[in-house]
Amino acid sequence: MNAKQAAGYRAAEWVKDGMTVGLGTGSTAYYAIERIGQRVAEGLRIRAIATSNASEELALKYHIPIIQAAEVDRLDLAIDGADEVDPQMALIKGGGGALLREKLVAKASDRFIVIADSNKVVPHLGAFKLPIELVPFCYEWTLKGLKDRYNVPFEMRQRDGGLYVTDNGNYIADASFGQINDPGRLSDELKATTGVVEHGLFVGIAHTVVIGHEDGSTDVKETTDV
Ligand code: 5RP
Repeated sequence: MNAKQAAGYRAAEWVKDGMTVGLGTGSTAYYAIERIGQRVAEGLRIRAIATSNASEELALKYHIPIIQAAEVDRLDLAIDGADEVDPQMALIKGGGGALLREKLVAKASDRFIVIADSNKVVPHLGAFKLPIELVPFCYEWTLKGLKDRYNVPFEMRQRDGGLYVTDNGNYIADASFGQINDPGRLSDELKATTGVVEHGLFVGIAHTVVIGHEDGSTDVKETTDV
């Protein structure tokens, strides 16, 4: 068992009969979905909502029942990966481009469980490029405004020779902030920027962090407010 699998499988233990569950996106969330799928095959009854088209496809492959948002007000828990995790359990997410749906699902969950291998644990956020999701309309102006304000490199994410398009039809700019000293303040500033749909800073959202190690062991850290 590798570190990502260890974290994903451990987090899947939080899922109980009758729960509504948010399913994350990425190579670590893959293992959580796989393990939940195995438990569904063994008789676990849950309903789930996925944070990306790819994760929904994976869930359906495992016969995990998928619901629409209109069917529930909140979720019992969500399990998702992260690109960086700091000591306060603040995160950078969105390396896989699913940050908007991931944040919607995480914030609607009574418990948000972050799963990551130990390489994702950092003393300060910011070495990983911060994904910022932009509305396509006039995105050049939004990008210029961000560059002027922060004076750090921004790159429009590319795919197949064109701009990367999210599941929500938006673009992503990846910003090289370097060490982010006040993630909460940056989060608020970006959120207040016209043309920015969402960004990958998740501050004060995670309730539980499960770190997986290469020997298959895991560490669990919790906030007190679950
Ligand atoms: C996708 C994400 C992922 O959770 C994040 O990129 C981590 O991915 P992985 O588990 O593959 O390292 O935020 O938008």
